[in-house]
Amino acid sequence: MIIDLNDISLADKQSYLQHAIAPRPICFASTVDKAGNSNLSPFSFFNLFSSNPPIVIFSASRRVRNNTTKHSLQNVLEIPEVVINIVDVDMVQQVSLSSCDFPKGINEFVKAGFTEEPATLIKPSMVKESKIKMECRVIEVKALGEEAGAGNLIICEILRMHIADSILDENKKIDQRKIQLVARLGGDWYCRVDEANLFTVEKPNTKIAMGVDALPDTIRNSRILTGNNLGQLANVLELPAIDPNFEDPKLKSIFQYYSVNPTEMEQELHYYAKALLDQGNVYAAWQVLLAIL
Ligand SMILES: Cc1cc2nc3c(=O)[nH]c(=O)nc-3n(C[C@H](O)[C@H](O)[C@H](O)COP(=O)(O)O)c2cc1C
Repeated sequence: MIIDLNDISLADKQSYLQHAIAPRPICFASTVDKAGNSNLSPFSFFNLFSSNPPIVIFSASRRVRNNTTKHSLQNVLEIPEVVINIVDVDMVQQVSLSSCDFPKGINEFVKAGFTEEPATLIKPSMVKESKIKMECRVIEVKALGEEAGAGNLIICEILRMHIADSILDENKKIDQRKIQLVARLGGDWYCRVDEANLFTVEKPNTKIAMGVDALPDTIRNSRILTGNNLGQLANVLELPAIDPNFEDPKLKSIFQYYSVNPTEMEQELHYYAKALLDQGNVYAAWQVLLAIL
């Protein structure tokens, strides 16, 4: 299916975009108006755009229903300050509750049952229950249009971060497993990021990888190894050498059992290399594959 976004309804546009561009982190934005009234609302059109200076952007859209602007946007235009609270699994139902269209002046801290904690540099309050809070100065607001659904980029410089000790590791870095972040997808879908679904991918940018095109043909054209497997194998500087000290009983038994049938042996070795790659053991996978090159 091919869609031209100009030919479909606004609701369909939102649906395709929000299901496809996902998961999105959630900025739980605390702002104040010039009378000092607190406002708290979630925004998943949100991300990090620069580390130095530390810049995050979230977007408060014009309401689809009646093309009015959100209170958070009105507030940052009055007082250009915001606390961005990061949303984790312990908070998500209350965060969702706070997104109701409460009338202006209604404090969503109270409505959603969160605790206001004074910030140290700016007027808006922090959400005490959030494990990471960022005190930010709004440096620019950029409207992307005048029609219903148009975003307004709220560009924020982070001045200070508050991080709960409970999510730190022994080096005082954030332990990705300890903060169970949640993110928004399409419709009512959310996802949680925890040990059951986290995995690591080795960064290629410390070395220049040989690339998939440089893999030997039998590996590159394997019907068993997947695109992910080829990506792992090709993330080495050059074709590895056989390690004479590599001892592996399974490799030995494949050799003994299939020596009469080289095609089946190659297939078995590819299956074994795939299993090793799926466990993240690139070195052993290469040694297995090198045995038949
Ligand atoms: C998880 C979540 C993410 C949301 N993301 C956005 C967003 O990125 N942009 C937006 O305009 N509204 C978003 N909303 C809806 C706003 O939170 C909602 O309109 C809110 O009432 C705005 O409040 P305000 O008028 O007090 O600023 C989101 C709602 C939820 C629950």
